[in-house]
Amino acid sequence: MTTWNCFLFLALAWSFIIIALAFEKQDNHLAVVHVINALPNNSDPMTIQCTSPSSDTDLGEHTLYVGGDYQWNVTHKSLHYCAALWDLWFASWHAYQPRRDVSHGTVYWLVKDNGFFLSWDNSSWVRKETWQTE
Ligand SMILES: *[C@@H]1O[C@H](CO)[C@@H](O)[C@H](O)[C@H]1NC(C)=O
Ligand SMILES: *[C@@H]1O[C@H](CO)[C@@H](O)[C@H](O)[C@H]1NC(C)=O
Ligand SMILES: *[C@@H]1O[C@H](CO)[C@@H](O)[C@H](O)[C@H]1NC(C)=O
Repeated sequence: MTTWNCFLFLALAWSFIIIALAFEKQDNHLAVVHVINALPNNSDPMTIQCTSPSSDTDLGEHTLYVGGDYQWNVTHKSLHYCAALWDLWFASWHAYQPRRDVSHGTVYWLVKDNGFFLSWDNSSWVRKETWQTE
């Protein structure tokens, strides 16, 4: 390699590293989603499973006790669904919706016996979904 080729090679390699880092950063810091179990005291725990089929993400089943806060990092700009089971009740909702949530670093869900409440600041809540039963 001449010095010039060597320089070009290094410059190219360096720009690939920069681009890779930029993508990784973007991927890892989209948002944190919290699902907080605020069901009445002494309730049975709920089971929750969150997935994002379009990005091949399945976070698996998780047991969430009263007072618990289940959280994960969203790493793909894709719709994330959660499904919840609590005694005879079930529900499924959009836990992370890119168009709705993209400008917010944190998405909070408060789960109560009268439904699922969304907040971006952990203080003002809007109900988005309710429990269903057969
Ligand atoms: C549930 O229990 C917690 C901790 O013991 C208590 O602080 C809270 O007031 C209770 N909530 C209700 C609705 O009873
Ligand atoms: C989310 O990502 C941040 C920064 O990479 C990390 O500090 C944090 O522990 C992660 N949270 C979860 C719930 O994985
Ligand atoms: C959300 O607010 C509640 C009550 O103000 C607090 O106990 C909790 O730690 C907060 N959660 C997060 C993740 O900031």
